[in-house]
Amino acid sequence: MTAPATVSAARRRRVGNNGPVVDKSLWTRKIEAEPEHSRRFLQRFRDMAAAGQDIAGEARFVDAMAPRGARVFDAGCGSGRIGGPLARLGHSVVGVDVDPVLIDAAKEDYPGVTWLVGDLAELEPATLAAAGAPERFDIAVAGGNVMPFLAPSTRREVLSRLRSVLAPGGRAAVGFGAGRGYPFEEFFEDVAATGWETQATFRGWNLLPFDEESEFLVAVLAPGVPGRSGGRSSRGFDAPLRDAHAPTTTRPRPSAGSDPMGGNTLRPLH
Ligand SMILES: C[S@@+](CC[C@H](N)C(=O)[O-])C[C@H]1O[C@@H](n2cnc3c(N)ncnc32)[C@H](O)[C@@H]1O
Repeated sequence: MTAPATVSAARRRRVGNNGPVVDKSLWTRKIEAEPEHSRRFLQRFRDMAAAGQDIAGEARFVDAMAPRGARVFDAGCGSGRIGGPLARLGHSVVGVDVDPVLIDAAKEDYPGVTWLVGDLAELEPATLAAAGAPERFDIAVAGGNVMPFLAPSTRREVLSRLRSVLAPGGRAAVGFGAGRGYPFEEFFEDVAATGWETQATFRGWNLLPFDEESEFLVAVLAPGVPGRSGGRSSRGFDAPLRDAHAPTTTRPRPSAGSDPMGGNTLRPLH
């Protein structure tokens, strides 16, 4: 992982001298176009918290999945809204986000937690170790629409790298809304192609069941057993496979208005 280029019109950047070329995350491109976006995003969550609104549904969900004192990887942690409360519950949290403004806010709001600037498409256990963080985790969480903000070309890379930082028995929870450029069907194909098994799906962090009409998806993933992709097929990991939980129709999805926090009544924030 390296700190993101701050100002660049280039769409792609090279990591190191001979490293892979990684497309910039859509979030990075957004803040290049609108430098105040991060601060507005941050302020809205701080205002909601100050007003007593519930912004901790994801943290409660992850806490229920996790053993006590778990190692939790907060992927695209932003300002620490998910990982911060989990750390206060006694978990060992490491958060990685490409946005240095949000990482600074996480450090301010939740000191004592490991918050790192980095691109998930470049995530490596060795880099985590160099930062004094665990290299393997019991739970990885990517909440709050991280997935649709990845550069589309890096989605499978990120899913693979998240799997690679899990300890044996580890699982992941991934949640994002419909109508954000990453159709759920494609997500399930990417999940199967990167060696994950979908253990459960919900339409919110409040555990309501996922169905064809759902405008939000929360997927609980575990590393799959080779030859048993999705837990329901003998096809290999490289063969994209529609997950049995995925919608079976191609009904058009709404282009806006899905609840970014999946299960609350909040309007879209990001
Ligand atoms: C909508 S915010 C959600 C932040 C946080 N998870 C939350 O729920 O409050 C999406 C986050 O994904 C991060 N992100 C997007 N692409 C990323 C990437 N490739 N690597 C690391 N972080 C990324 C953004 O920087 C941003 O903080």
